[in-house]
Amino acid sequence: MEKFIVELDNITKEFPGVKALDHVQFNLKRGEVLAFLGENGAGKSTLMKILSGIYAKDEGTIKVDGKVIDSMSPKEAQELGIAIIHQELNMCAHLSVAENIFLGREKTKSGVLSNKEMKQESLEILKRLNIDIDPETIVGSLPVSKQQMVEIAKALSTNARILIMDEPTSALTSAEIDELFRIIRQLKQEGCAIVYISHRLEELQHITDRVTILRDGQYVTTLDFQETDLERIVSFMVGREITEKFPRVSCKKGKKILEIRKLNAGKLVRDVDLELYEGEIVGIAGLMGAGRTETTRAIFGVDPKESGEIILDGKTIEIQRPIDAIKSGIVLAPEDRKKDGLCTKLSVGDNIALPNLDILCDRLGVVNMKKQQGMVEKSVSDLKIKLAGAEVNAGSLSGGNQQKVVVGKWLARNSRVVIFDEPTRGIDVAAKVEIYNLMNQLKQQGIGVMFVSSEMPEIMGISDRIVVMCDGRITGELLPEEATQDKILRYATQFEKKINTSISE
Ligand SMILES: Nc1ncnc2c1ncn2[C@@H]1O[C@H](COP(=O)(O)OP(=O)(O)OP(=O)(O)O)[C@@H](O)[C@H]1O
Ligand SMILES: [Mg+2]
Repeated sequence: MEKFIVELDNITKEFPGVKALDHVQFNLKRGEVLAFLGENGAGKSTLMKILSGIYAKDEGTIKVDGKVIDSMSPKEAQELGIAIIHQELNMCAHLSVAENIFLGREKTKSGVLSNKEMKQESLEILKRLNIDIDPETIVGSLPVSKQQMVEIAKALSTNARILIMDEPTSALTSAEIDELFRIIRQLKQEGCAIVYISHRLEELQHITDRVTILRDGQYVTTLDFQETDLERIVSFMVGREITEKFPRVSCKKGKKILEIRKLNAGKLVRDVDLELYEGEIVGIAGLMGAGRTETTRAIFGVDPKESGEIILDGKTIEIQRPIDAIKSGIVLAPEDRKKDGLCTKLSVGDNIALPNLDILCDRLGVVNMKKQQGMVEKSVSDLKIKLAGAEVNAGSLSGGNQQKVVVGKWLARNSRVVIFDEPTRGIDVAAKVEIYNLMNQLKQQGIGVMFVSSEMPEIMGISDRIVVMCDGRITGELLPEEATQDKILRYATQFEKKINTSISE
């Protein structure tokens, strides 16, 4: 019989109103990478939080190294060699990289913090991971991708034997992902067992040995990765075949809705010209750091503009703050949902109602609860947001469902332009299709849709026009029928010195 390092049997976990896990089984072998898959809300994070001592199980048995563990705290889990890299970043933004890595297990010498030692050890771990970050850097000043790498470094610094990665790549650049995979293979060789959770199924082939699939809190199956294929995995995940990954609807291109002229803002938005027509979806492609998010933020009034003009339906508009944009009919679903997109401590209903209070309040400024309820119910059902009720905290939803709430709150308004920044990050295959349908629906209503995405297939599959950015500038434009990954990449890497060389085929 195979020896498992972790054996979970019949694990059940209930939250008020939701059975997150229903008699689930889960096994993990030494030295393997197990991809743990399932739709948003399937229960993946919950099971892994139980394994790492964050949640207590309601029922079932946990065995580590064949020994039954009745209950454990996160600290005890850590002592057993279990480390978890959480789906949502969990760093203390105002502490340094080294302080974050050693948080809760600070090194001391005769009762005094030995900063030097912690710094030195951090440096070694970062070096082992090939990460070029000064341990004294304040974490909050790092881009999300680097914070993610620090989180990985932190988990590794505990010498984990069982490493759980809950969507580690959702904010990484492709070079960083390669680096991460190198580290994973190295750890695997050293005998570390790795649980890998991801919605980016294409990346699994580089590292995966086995796959375990959950659906609606129930165990579905475990497969040898070599002996299966992605289509089969997806059908196990969603319980049906997904026929159309990128649903496309054709609309007549109507009149021009939005025009951005020579927009400049910060370091990463330079002379950006953009147009958006009724009945079209414009995809903005580019590498991380190309200035795409910054462009959306400047349009929406989050960051100040230095120069440039925004023309909506033929009229120049002034956008100083997001409220100006919202009032004129331009809305943004931002990239970092936890930080910018949601109030995690407010209910889902309140999150949806919040930016729509102008519509929901009567003349005296009192919220019409019935109207609010109707609005919330519509968003929840339109987007198939999975929750126990609209009164639960937005923070308690699964990652993908949180993303749907971020999108859902804008659906209630009659907007002219909806801008999405990485709308499908962390979203499962079936929910992605729902988001695309939603974008199509907006487009059919005559709303201009613009979306930033780093996923080439989605950019090519959904856009009616593709605009590519590099170094804060627009470097190319393509129609979907002529677009290939190569062409997009070539525009995406047209750094300034090459900006005038034309693309040769
Ligand atoms: N702290 C909590 N309080 C209440 N409900 C919760 C809590 N944590 C999770 N849930 C619910 O349990 C279910 C499973 O959530 P979980 O986060 O484990 O899903 P997941 O598989 O990780 O999904 P995703 O891929 O979106 O991250 C969901 O319905 C979620 O809303
Ligand atoms: Mg999760």
